[in-house]
Amino acid sequence: MNTSTTAGEKKMYKVKIRTEQKTYPVYLGQKALDSTGQLISAILPPCTALVVSDKNVAAHYGEKCLKSLRDKSFEPFLEVLEGGEKEKSLSSAAALYSRALEAGMDRSSVIIALGGGVIGDLAGFVAATYLRGVPYVQLPTTLLAMVDSSVGGKVAVNHPLGKNLIGAFYQPTLVVADGSTLHTLPEREFNAGLAELIKYGIIWDKKLFERLELSLSNNKNTTPKKHFLEMNCSRLLKHIVSAVIIKGKIVSQDEREKDLRRILNFGHTFGHALEAGTGFHYYLHGEAVACGMAMAARLAALLGILDPLFVQRIIALLKCLHVPPPPLELNRDTVIEALFYDKKKEGKELVFILPVSLGKTTVCKTPPAPLIERVIEEYLGGELI
Ligand SMILES: NC(=O)c1ccc[n+]([C@@H]2O[C@H](COP(=O)([O-])OP(=O)(O)OC[C@H]3O[C@@H](n4cnc5c(N)ncnc54)[C@H](O)[C@@H]3O)[C@@H](O)[C@H]2O)c1
Repeated sequence: MNTSTTAGEKKMYKVKIRTEQKTYPVYLGQKALDSTGQLISAILPPCTALVVSDKNVAAHYGEKCLKSLRDKSFEPFLEVLEGGEKEKSLSSAAALYSRALEAGMDRSSVIIALGGGVIGDLAGFVAATYLRGVPYVQLPTTLLAMVDSSVGGKVAVNHPLGKNLIGAFYQPTLVVADGSTLHTLPEREFNAGLAELIKYGIIWDKKLFERLELSLSNNKNTTPKKHFLEMNCSRLLKHIVSAVIIKGKIVSQDEREKDLRRILNFGHTFGHALEAGTGFHYYLHGEAVACGMAMAARLAALLGILDPLFVQRIIALLKCLHVPPPPLELNRDTVIEALFYDKKKEGKELVFILPVSLGKTTVCKTPPAPLIERVIEEYLGGELI
């Protein structure tokens, strides 16, 4: 793993991700999207490029991306999808296969994901399976995609029986994250991405947690998005770089989530149950993870493995994200039922990643049911976040 910056106006960070499957660079900078064509052409020869995006992102950045590719002699064509979680489906993938075939794309062509985690997961899945695998590039435009989904090669579509059930580990050829695209990201989406950033602080990097605490807890008169984008853009970019470095370290040790990579699921066991228990219509993914992290921290305290003072600090920081309160119709039994459908369940055991201090976690299999129920009740009663 290394990071480097180039001097001058267009300061760009470069993080190298090394996995068994592939070593690839992640570039991060303001206006990095303008350099997409140049950065891809350093790795791939000019070719046909299927650019997949959704209507919100394409309206802002589609043309910019196409121009940058054409300037370097690529032959791009843009496929604009409606967007949203429903897009992560086999039928959306099938439509993209058809477009790629009609355009005569072969194994030397490239697929480019311009958007958030939905577009990245879907386009990555199509790249992993079209002609048994073609190169793909991630151009993440949400904070969540920049700090998490665009790096590490997990690509998937959903099945009616659950999220991300049909997929692969398939690493991108290149990732280019342009921090300036976050200006158009809705505030709620921005906060959901911050939850994933906070996650890295809790599971791996105490200093990152403390830097985020300093930024967010001390600036309650403004929103996190305003705080970062209007006053502290360069600081946000550094936080994103920190997250990418951490994710790179984790996936380079455990690309296929056999062991260490599972810590990235911190907050996801409860979070996924909240999402599933509300039919995936109420929470944004990052919001559910934020609630799940608060619940996991509380569970760790009840188990006596985490100092209650840390729980307070974790919850205080997560509160800065203004996650919507639990919906009135959500009850304890629905959440418990959804917990047991979690695909991370190993055999009959329920697996939780729990913090033991800031920056360190442990794996906890099937903690006592009364404690799980208590945490759910506290959350639903509005006592946690
Ligand atoms: N592969 C992984 O490792 C991984 C990790 C975490 C999450 N995920 C997946 O990521 C998905 C969630 O991703 P997401 O939160 O990025 O959601 P998303 O892709 O749906 O994007 C959120 C919304 O923001 C809009 N948007 C995106 N960028 C924008 C911009 N710059 N300006 C204006 N609007 C913009 C989109 O159109 C969309 O409406 C889920 O499906 C989740 O399962 C995958």
